[in-house]
Amino acid sequence: MNNSSAPLVLGIESSCDETGVGIVLGRKLLANEIASSVAEHARFGGVVPEVAARAHVDAILPAIERALATAKVKLTDLDAIAVTAGPGLAGALLVGASAANGLAAGLGIPLYGVNHLAAHVAVEYLDTEQVIPPTIALLVSGGHTSILKVDEITNDINVMGATMDDAAGEAFDKIARLLGLPFPGGPELDRLATTGNSTAINFPRAMTLFTDEGDRANKEFSFSFSGLKSAVARHIELAVKNSGPLSQSARADIAASFQEAVVDVLLSKAVLAAKREGLEHLLIAGGVAANSRLRALATERSKAAGLKLAIPSPGLCTDNGAMVAALGSLAIAAGRRPSSAGLAVDPGAAVEQVLFN
Ligand code: KG4
Ligand code: ZN
Repeated sequence: MNNSSAPLVLGIESSCDETGVGIVLGRKLLANEIASSVAEHARFGGVVPEVAARAHVDAILPAIERALATAKVKLTDLDAIAVTAGPGLAGALLVGASAANGLAAGLGIPLYGVNHLAAHVAVEYLDTEQVIPPTIALLVSGGHTSILKVDEITNDINVMGATMDDAAGEAFDKIARLLGLPFPGGPELDRLATTGNSTAINFPRAMTLFTDEGDRANKEFSFSFSGLKSAVARHIELAVKNSGPLSQSARADIAASFQEAVVDVLLSKAVLAAKREGLEHLLIAGGVAANSRLRALATERSKAAGLKLAIPSPGLCTDNGAMVAALGSLAIAAGRRPSSAGLAVDPGAAVEQVLFN
């Protein structure tokens, strides 16, 4: 490798419906190409695994070529390849891993299989020289919602709590659907909510009040969004029954009130986790971190609690290849061992497994 403190790394992401290829030089972002198959899933109201896998096959080589052109580098300039090895959809992951395995073997350079969730966190450390501090990370995506204590991003992540049912993004998508918004509903609901009143309806905040100390110890940093989802569904049903189809302003109020309940719970618990662990840093990552209300309230609450807040730019919060390249580059800088040839994927990988053998 030319330079282990500033390696040229190409990262491939294919765990769900985004084919992402990123290129970094050390921690500098050079290219971030994304091809999404989201439009192909829209009519099914959710991601169809086989459709996603086939779309990755079509998109991956052109995306690699575009990324190389944008970064103005050649394949033979690369020092290493990084790829999402899990968690994610099995067939989708396999497309990326096969491309990465082939490229690394063909070029004779190391391959780093990385965790998709840890990569969401790692993307924050692009384009900065800062020493990476131990941090609480609130990870909010379409498939996962958890509070992590990140002592060292490449090998020391502990889960303090996670959702017991739906992920935050999943809840956004389901409520968006109830409100008649197109898939994926998270960004659409975010937009609708900007015109609504977030205090119009007081939706439940699950697991924020405890009467039993044992319960508190077990669930203080856990989440549950299924009760909230039912409460919103019931509210809509009753409103329609009483006054007919929802007006635009009624839909906006529901969206804003639902969103407020979600971000309130997410941030209350994340701030509490930072206090409990005596950490000064709070990082928010994953697709839902693109949410405008989450970003605004996180800024307020972090300031009030004396925490230093880090959130990637909205475009880097949702799935992309830059985050994979970023984690690969950090793994190299930390002297971690590359994966072995023929890296296997693990669709159910836990977040603690940051790097794969
Ligand atoms: O991290 P991500 O791109 O994919 C997974 O790893 O799951 O997250 C996708 C999720 C989807 O549920 C999407 O609706 C949600 O993130 N999302 C948002 C916003 N942008 C994306 N949710 C709320 N507000 C947004 N602005
Ligand atoms: Zn993701």
